[in-house]
Amino acid sequence: MSPKFKNPRAKHNFQGRSCSITGVGSYVPEKVLTNADLEKMVETSDEWITSRTGIKERRIAAANEFTSDLAAKAAAKAMKMAGVTADQIDLIIIATLTPDMPFPSTACLVQRKLGAMHAAAFDLEAACSGFIYALEVGQQFIMSQTYETVLVVGAEKLSSIVNWKDRNTCVLFGDGAGAAILQHRPNSHGLLTAVMGADGNKAELLSMPGGGSACPATAASVAAGLHHLRMDGKETFKNAVNAMVSAANEAMRRCDIDITKIKCVIPHQANRRIVDAVSDRLKAAPEQLFINLHKYGNTSAASVAIALDEAITSGRVARGELILLVVFGAGLTWGAAVIEW
Ligand code: UT7
Repeated sequence: MSPKFKNPRAKHNFQGRSCSITGVGSYVPEKVLTNADLEKMVETSDEWITSRTGIKERRIAAANEFTSDLAAKAAAKAMKMAGVTADQIDLIIIATLTPDMPFPSTACLVQRKLGAMHAAAFDLEAACSGFIYALEVGQQFIMSQTYETVLVVGAEKLSSIVNWKDRNTCVLFGDGAGAAILQHRPNSHGLLTAVMGADGNKAELLSMPGGGSACPATAASVAAGLHHLRMDGKETFKNAVNAMVSAANEAMRRCDIDITKIKCVIPHQANRRIVDAVSDRLKAAPEQLFINLHKYGNTSAASVAIALDEAITSGRVARGELILLVVFGAGLTWGAAVIEW
C-alpha cells in the first residue's frame, strides 16, 4: 500500500523567506573493506554481493574513530564551503542511529569538537531517513527566523552494530558522514519542499532490539545478539520501493514539477535494485541518477548526505538546478526533498 501524505503545503517559502543550503561536505573513513575481504569473513562472494546489491566496497571507521568524529569532519567541510565559522552556528542537528553513546547526544560531542559553543545541539533518529528529517526540522528554524545558521549532519558508524558473522546484513553497510549548512539567503531558494512519513506498524522489519529501555544490556542480551542490527531484507525491499516512489511524487507535486525538471535524483544508497525500481517507476533517465553505493554501501543517515556533497562538488549539478532526494529506512520511515542548488 502506498503511503498518503497529510499537510500538502506547497513550497517552503514564507513571506519571501526561504532556506538555502550554503555549504555541503562529507567524510568517509580511510579503511576500505572490499567484497573480496568479506569473502574471507563469511560465506559470500563478490558475484552475489554485486548482483544482489551493486555494492563493491564500503568504508570502515577505525576503532578510535566515532560517529562524532566523522560528523565533525564532514561539518568542517560544509562550514568551509559556506564561509561559516564555528561561533556563527546557532543549532546542530545530528541524524544518526549509531550515536557515540546513548547520552549525551552526539550533537553535543560534535559541538565540542567544532568549538561551536553558541549552538544548541540535539540528535534526531529517523534511521536511514534521518538526513531529510533533519533538513526539514532545521529549515523550520530558518523560516521562523529563530536561527540564522543551522548545521545538519547525517553520520553513522554502522560497523559498530553490524553482526560480522551474519552474511545477510554485514555485506550491506558502511560508515561515513555528510553535512549541510542551512541559512536564509535573499533571492535564493534551496530547500523547496520536504516530505516525511512513517509506519511504526512495521517497526520489526529493521531494528536493533537491545540497548534501550525495553531490553537493557545484559550478558544474556549480548549472547542473544540483540545489540546487532537485524533486517527482513525482502519485506524491507518491497516497502522501500513503494514508499520512496510515493514520497518523491508527493515532493514534486508540491513543487508543481515533474521528473523532467529534476537535474539529479539522489536516492537512498541501499541497493542498486531498489534504486533501479524506484527510478523506473518515477520514469527518471539513467543520466539523472546519482549513485555511489558501489563505493560506500548503505551508510544510513549519511547516505544521501554524502551523495549530495559528491553530486555538488563533482559538478553534476550547477547553481539553480533541481535535486530530488528520496530516502527510506527503519521505523519504518521515508521522505523526499526537492532542493534548488
Ligand atoms: O537502509 C534501509 C533500507 N534497506 C534496504 O532497503 C535493504 C532492502 N533489502 C535488500 O536490499 C535485499 O533484500 C538484500 C540485499 C538484503 C537481500 O537480497 P534478496 O534478493 O532479497 O536475497 P534473499 O534475502 O532472498 O536471499 C537469497 C539467498 C538466500 O539463500 P536461500 O535461502 O535462497 O538458500 C540467502 O541465504 O541468498 C542468501 N544470501 C547470501 N548469499 C551469499 C543472503 N546474503 C548472502 C550473502 N552472500 N551475503
